[in-house]
Amino acid sequence: MSTTLQNDLFIRAALGQQTERPPVWMMRQAGRFMPEYWEIKNKYSFLEMCKTPEIAADVTMLPVDLLDIDAAILFSDILVTAEAMGGDLSFEQGVGPRFANPVRSMAAADQLATDCLDKLQYVADAIRVIQQRLNGRIPLIGFAGAPFTILSYLVEGASSKDFKLTKLMLNNEPALAHKILQKIADVTVDYLNMQIDAGVNAIQLFDSWALALSWNDYKEFSHQYNTYILSKIKRTVPVISFCKGSSVFAPIMAEANPDVVSVDWNADLKNIKQALPSGMAVQGNLDPFVLYADKKVIETKILQLFERMRGENGFIFNLGHGIMPDIPFDNVKHAIDVVKGFRY
Ligand code: CP3
Repeated sequence: MSTTLQNDLFIRAALGQQTERPPVWMMRQAGRFMPEYWEIKNKYSFLEMCKTPEIAADVTMLPVDLLDIDAAILFSDILVTAEAMGGDLSFEQGVGPRFANPVRSMAAADQLATDCLDKLQYVADAIRVIQQRLNGRIPLIGFAGAPFTILSYLVEGASSKDFKLTKLMLNNEPALAHKILQKIADVTVDYLNMQIDAGVNAIQLFDSWALALSWNDYKEFSHQYNTYILSKIKRTVPVISFCKGSSVFAPIMAEANPDVVSVDWNADLKNIKQALPSGMAVQGNLDPFVLYADKKVIETKILQLFERMRGENGFIFNLGHGIMPDIPFDNVKHAIDVVKGFRY
């Protein structure tokens, strides 16, 4: 796969190989911090954008053309799997995602569909359009939400600060939680295999909210299902495992055998890398709030990270989490230019 790419820095780093500089892409690189995103967003709802392959491709290509990053990421959302399973999903401006029919009982769990790949075909279509547009310039990353993070939205019905209802289910009704998690995991395997068949060059599994869990609960309710998914999908492309909480959970995340562990900004990236099995790559881990700062500060903090990682193979530069909508576009561009100007 990588041999057909004009720029394969990202793939080489993901496979633990040496690169002349770290490759760069950023979570939420196609989004509201870009005026060009708003031009599209003002005409369509977010879900319309995700579900119309030509529009999803247009948005995916924005950071490719405007930021010159080393990898594109499919424009979609982690919650589309939960919608295909029967979740009544909407996105309201300023409110975020909502499920009108939260899943909080065995009866509701029984109703969740697992044979629902037909409802996600628009994603495979979008991938094919994007790959035509990319035409081998850079790799395309596909993705899915990890079962625990998806469960939290299905149970809470919306974003949550404390995951109170989700944790109540894990504690009082673990069998119910496991039932839903297994269904999500099965759909995710099919969904990621569909993306791989449609032509993505890498996969990222987003377990954004695993940071809410204790060590034991992480193993039981998150890690177990991520391991299942990583063991069942076709391992023909590199797989990145992301969670906020990876500063703590990285050693267990590695047991699921991803190619790359994506690290939040609390950890010293070199220490994390050296604690991982040899050859396993890391991705991260600039605090996204640095991108609000003066350009000189942005440069200094990126170079600080690179000095620390000098001599380490298998390093993809990214943020510890996504770009916030009010970060100045010029600062994001500057950060990417700093990375691209660096040589080990
Ligand atoms: O990274 C990219 O540019 C690719 C596209 C992408 C989106 N969401 C687009 C999006 C990806 C990879 C995601 C993943 C996602 N979605 C995650 C995991 C990553 C993370 O941020 O932790 C999560 C938890 C979600 C769920 C979600 N989607 C939330 C909580 C929200 C609303 C809050 C917010 O940040 O706005 C969304 C909406 C969403 N997903 C937007 C975008 C561009 C904003 C939609 C809009 O324009 O209103």
